Amino acid sequence: LVLIVDFGGQYKELIARRVREANVYCEVIPYTKAMEVIKERKPKGIIFTGGPNSAYLEDSPKIAEEVFHMNIPILGICYGAQLMAHTLGGKVTKAETREYGRVELKLNHTEDIFKDIIDSSKCWMSHTDYIESIPEGFEIIATTEACPVAAMKHTEKSLYGVQFHPEVEHSEYGFEMLRNFLYEVCGLTGEWNMHNFTENAIKEVKELVGDKKVLCALSGGVDSSVAAVLVHRAIGDNLTCIFVDHGLLRKNEGDQVEELFKNKFNMNLIRVNAQERFLGKLAGVSDPEMKRKIIGEEFIRLFEEESKKLGHIDYLVQGTVYPDVIESGTDTASVIKSHHNVGGLPEDMEFELIEPLRQLFKDEVRKVGEELEIPEEVVWRQPFPGPGLAIRVLGEVREDKLKIVRESDHIFREEIRKAGLQRKIWQYFTVLPNIKSVGVMGDERTYAHTVGIRAVTSSDGMTSDWARIPYEVIEKISNRIVNEVDNVNRIVYDVTSKPPSTIEWE
Ligand code: XMP
Repeated sequence: LVLIVDFGGQYKELIARRVREANVYCEVIPYTKAMEVIKERKPKGIIFTGGPNSAYLEDSPKIAEEVFHMNIPILGICYGAQLMAHTLGGKVTKAETREYGRVELKLNHTEDIFKDIIDSSKCWMSHTDYIESIPEGFEIIATTEACPVAAMKHTEKSLYGVQFHPEVEHSEYGFEMLRNFLYEVCGLTGEWNMHNFTENAIKEVKELVGDKKVLCALSGGVDSSVAAVLVHRAIGDNLTCIFVDHGLLRKNEGDQVEELFKNKFNMNLIRVNAQERFLGKLAGVSDPEMKRKIIGEEFIRLFEEESKKLGHIDYLVQGTVYPDVIESGTDTASVIKSHHNVGGLPEDMEFELIEPLRQLFKDEVRKVGEELEIPEEVVWRQPFPGPGLAIRVLGEVREDKLKIVRESDHIFREEIRKAGLQRKIWQYFTVLPNIKSVGVMGDERTYAHTVGIRAVTSSDGMTSDWARIPYEVIEKISNRIVNEVDNVNRIVYDVTSKPPSTIEWE
């Protein structure tokens, strides 16, 4: 185990992902709880993240000096390095030149964290303070033009500080440096992998649940699908999945979900066909937030109605993943179960939760899905919003409009797959902006709908850029949509990034 102590740095999640990529298990903990958790869990290594504060100011995040004398290797990154220097008697001040971006890093050390790394490479810097002088017992092991202490090391204790960010891709040998810290300094061997994880998780769920009854709300998305199949592997028919088909799914999706889980995996699946009920509730509603609220509430009501028919249920499976855990700031201990009322479910429905994926990042969840032989279309499915196509028909949702989005989206996805672009693009879909314009087809004037196509690249959905789909592919998509989808005569391509735009149009 490696613990990553968060001092408010924007890259904490990235550091954790890099450590996992080196096949080492790690967790992120807030600095306020750090000493307590470190003493209890005895990690093999500790990483301090960066952060926006100045180590020398009174009210900046601090950590007890004791941590440096516990014989646990520590790597401080940016603020983490400055805090290490400051706490141990070095001097940190405002830098004369603020460094930001890729700069040349010169190493004067060839061992441990810099083993097998060339003397001169690019690293990513982003700081306004810097370490002016190092504490006693330390040596300088790397410099940049503006930074006399780009990296430092305590000669006897395994303490390292780097001013740059090894976790970001722009640091050429950053990953190798992190891996060196884990393997060469902490003595870890990299045995965390998804095969072992899957086997263990199945065993744990089996032991935990025994003969009790478990329920799962299956959406067909990656996380809930992987969680459901994993739990099914552990307890078989004691798991029941409820799949609410709200009629706002993509073309054939409802049938595909049913086919996969019922027929391929032989799972108990209840499909609730509630298309008309949702459309009825949405009639006349055009405000996007209102649409979301109605869909969310109706979903819960239906889930509740169905689960009541099943009698007593002990557990509820949820596809919570590690970024949710980090973001919500909840206890990060590696629990497979927690007890509380599920956000959004009615007060009188109390379940114990089983969250078998709560330690995993998305790419790890996908690997577990592959271990469980879930088909590629599901494991690599693009993110799809809960309210579905209702927020891609702008304004009022009606079946004739949903049909245009469903059909055009189907064509778009088919062409992206044919072009082999499906894993390069984060999300790609069509929207109906609710405008009509003039066109001409054959000899006739038409007055029909415009369809927008949206495709973005992103790594987490928080920011995104519009995807540069080759013109030939766009041409094919455009031709097919106007020819094959009734009542459409114009296609526009959305070329805005997020921010200032958002990925969805509503
Ligand atoms: P935006 O449009 O805010 O979307 O850039 C960011 C990501 O969130 C998804 N999204 C939603 N997911 N319920 C969901 O489950 C929603 O109401 C919702 N709205 C947006 C969106 O598809 C993208 O991945």
